[in-house]
Amino acid sequence: MPQSLTLQQLPFSQACENNQQPILTLLTKWLPSCVHLLEIGSGTGQHSVYFANHLPHIRWQPSDQRHYLPNLQARLNLQASPNLQPAIELDVTQPWPQLTSNVDAIFSANTLHIMSKTMVEAFFIGVGNLLVNAGSLVIYGPFNYQGQFTSDSNRQFNMSLQHNNPQSGIRDIEWICQLAQQQGLTLREDIAMPANNRLLHFIK
Ligand SMILES: C[S@@+](CC[C@H](N)C(=O)[O-])C[C@H]1O[C@@H](n2cnc3c(N)ncnc32)[C@H](O)[C@@H]1O
Repeated sequence: MPQSLTLQQLPFSQACENNQQPILTLLTKWLPSCVHLLEIGSGTGQHSVYFANHLPHIRWQPSDQRHYLPNLQARLNLQASPNLQPAIELDVTQPWPQLTSNVDAIFSANTLHIMSKTMVEAFFIGVGNLLVNAGSLVIYGPFNYQGQFTSDSNRQFNMSLQHNNPQSGIRDIEWICQLAQQQGLTLREDIAMPANNRLLHFIK
């Protein structure tokens, strides 16, 4: 693990810095009694450290695919808080890790448009298996409505995503709600966020 790296040497997302405060406002409202949250696709770990620091009642469990873990864990080490757990490996298409306590919330930001459709399906099956009844699933990212982009910038973004990986792309909200419903999850809130993103809150 590259524990000697400084914060300045670690991967950094300006988008995370920009969206963390508006997301926090809603997580605070939606997860007042959450105990154990799993984050899927933690990436740089900026969200993990920020939300764990501001939501001390939540045991925050970051995760990501194996190749992300060294840099992710390096940030968690540098910006630790008592409720922030060490990162674990989680690829949604592989068997999900066994967690020692019930997961009553799952959070994932900017992942479903990066994943292929098969991965998104695996994401929802895994969430359905892991989340306790009455638990929350909170998803941040861009979505299409009735097959339409919500902005020109999302249309451009989708083109660049598919140029890099034809299997990625902005997902239809209707399909996401259908996958969620198959796992017993109901959409409670769908809130407009900065930069043409949405924050979705499902309850199981
Ligand atoms: C654009 S990054 C978002 C990172 C962070 N959540 C954020 O908002 O900045 C996309 C993330 O999706 C994760 N991801 C992609 N495919 C995945 C898979 N099959 N299983 C788990 N995570 C995956 C990547 O590893 C990466 O961390």
